[in-house]
Parts: sequence; structure tokens; C-alpha cells
Amino acid sequence: MRGGLGPRGQSVFERLFGQAPQPAAPVLQREAPIIAVASGKGGTGKSFLTTSLAVLCHGRALRTAIVDCDFGLACDHLLLGVKPTLHLQHVLQRRARLDEILAVTPHGPTLVPGAAGVRQMARLTDPEIEAFGRTLGELASAHDAVLLDIGAGLSPQNVLTCCAADFVVLVTQPEIAALTDAYAVIKTLATLGAAKRIGIVVNRVLEASHGQSTFEKLRDVASRHTGLELCDLGALPEDPLVTQRRLGQAPLCVTEPQSPTVHALQRVCDRILALVGPMRPRERAADATVAARFAEFQRVV
Ligand SMILES: Nc1ncnc2c1ncn2[C@@H]1O[C@H](COP(=O)(O)OP(=O)(O)OP(=O)(O)O)[C@@H](O)[C@H]1O
Ligand SMILES: [Mg+2]
Repeated sequence: MRGGLGPRGQSVFERLFGQAPQPAAPVLQREAPIIAVASGKGGTGKSFLTTSLAVLCHGRALRTAIVDCDFGLACDHLLLGVKPTLHLQHVLQRRARLDEILAVTPHGPTLVPGAAGVRQMARLTDPEIEAFGRTLGELASAHDAVLLDIGAGLSPQNVLTCCAADFVVLVTQPEIAALTDAYAVIKTLATLGAAKRIGIVVNRVLEASHGQSTFEKLRDVASRHTGLELCDLGALPEDPLVTQRRLGQAPLCVTEPQSPTVHALQRVCDRILALVGPMRPRERAADATVAARFAEFQRVV
């Protein structure tokens, strides 16, 4: 049966209008891959990694957007050298449109600035979470890659945002506290059935071999207790050039493109692009958009 008409209704329709009605095509929306950069413990280097990846992706001719999801303690605008007056909170509270808050940063990526020092932003209301999902969908339809700098820890909205993303990059450090907290994030995402693929970046390693051994420890524990296979995205060295950056200085990827740290960042970027697949808006059915995934996981997180 076509178009909900029986054979008789169909032939009457064909006689009257010349052709049978076709079933409605599923609504498709185009959205770029959304990559969440998260951690368990705070201060592992998420903002440094996300802003660096955004600059590198822009350098590879990808229209890249970065969203500062560290609600209340945003800092990506400082790392990318802009002073926004409007931020994500204004959009989520319907006080501004997305296009009014987008900041084009001097080194390419478009920034959705987060709210810095705004306490009520630390916890989003349900309508704000729904608006957040719609906003990410709007952003993803106009870019090739969307990177989310997630706040530290396992707050419901951090977990929900990771669940709704296409790929999660977990940033950890070789210390046991950072590893334990990273494992807590992995376990939570695995329990929710949301962790399709998680990539691990080990930051601030003192020797190259520490990156590999740290990844292997985490991979073995995750595989044994959650059945999840983690992806090795590589390690970044401890680098005083990162720690000593002054306000207003351009990102390290711009000022030191030949440094070992930027080479390591390029390799992380290569591995993410290889795992996530082509970076450009892809067609998604209405129930697979980022807004739909927010709605789906909002029920369980
Ligand atoms: N590879 C590195 N070498 C040296 N210092 C680093 C490195 N990566 C990050 N840092 C420093 O560590 C500190 C924390 O980094 P960053 O702000 O990126 O972490 P974060 O995970 O975003 O923190 P938060 O959880 O507070 O959002 C910063 O002072 C940063 O300069
Ligand atoms: Mg941060």
C-alpha cells in the first residue's frame, strides 16, 4: 500500500491527479560532527586542548566552531583573544539570537562564549537545556566541526552534553587522581549506553612513554569493567610555554607551530579526524539530531 490509500483509493487518486501520493520523505537535517572535550578532574587541560584543536581545524580549512560549555567559569575567550559582551546564557534565556553572540576569533575559529562568573549559569534549567540542544543543532548546520569545551566533573548537564555529542575526548593526566576521575566519567557514560566511542588524551607527560603506559592502564580497566574499547589519541608533553602564556598572547599553535607540543597536537587532531570521519555537515534523520539526542538522554541522566 502506498501513501496510506488502499488499492481502490489509489487508483481513484491516480485517475484524478495522474500519480499516486508518495509516502512523506523523512525529514533530514544537516549537522557537522559534534566533539565534546571532557575530563573528570578539573584543570587537566581541556580548554587548552579544545582551543588548540579549534585553531588547527581552522588551519585545515574546516569551518570550526567552539562552544565554551564551562557554564559559569568560561575562559576560552581569553585563550582565543576576544572580549565578548554577550554569551551563551543570553541565547539560552532568549535574550539574544545565536548569530548575535558568535565571536569570530583572530585566529579563525568561531566562538560561542560562555558565561564567566555567573552563578545561576552553573546549573541549567530544563528549558535552557532544550534551548542548548537546539542551539548546538543550529551551530552544527553552519559549520564543518563543532568542539565543546565541557566543564570538569560529572554534573548532569556535563554528562548529558557528552551523551549528545558524536565523539567524546577525555583529557587526563598521568596522576592517579586524574585517572580515577577519568574512569568515573567512562563508567558513567558506559552505564548510560551513551559512550559509543571515547578517545583519550594524556596531557602533561614528562616522558613520551608515560603517555602510552597511562593510556594502557585506563584502557585495560575500562575494557575489564565496562567492556568499552577506548581510542588512543596520543599524549601532550608538559610544556612551560603553555603554562607561562600571558593574557593577550596568540595561541601556541600560532606562535610555535614547529614546537613538539604543537606537533603532538597535530597528531591528536589527525587521530580525531580519522576516527570521527569526514568533517562536514551530514544528513541526519529528525530523531538523530543533536537536539533529539539531548531530549532522549535528558530522560535518563
Ligand atoms: N601540556 C601542558 N603543559 C603545561 N601546562 C599545561 C599543559 N596543558 C595545560 N596546562 C596548564 O594547565 C592549566 C589548566 O589548563 P586548562 O585551563 O586548559 O584546564 P581545564 O581542564 O580546562 O581546567 P578546568 O577544569 O578548570 O576547566 C593552565 O594553566 C594551562 O596553561
Ligand atoms: Mg577549562
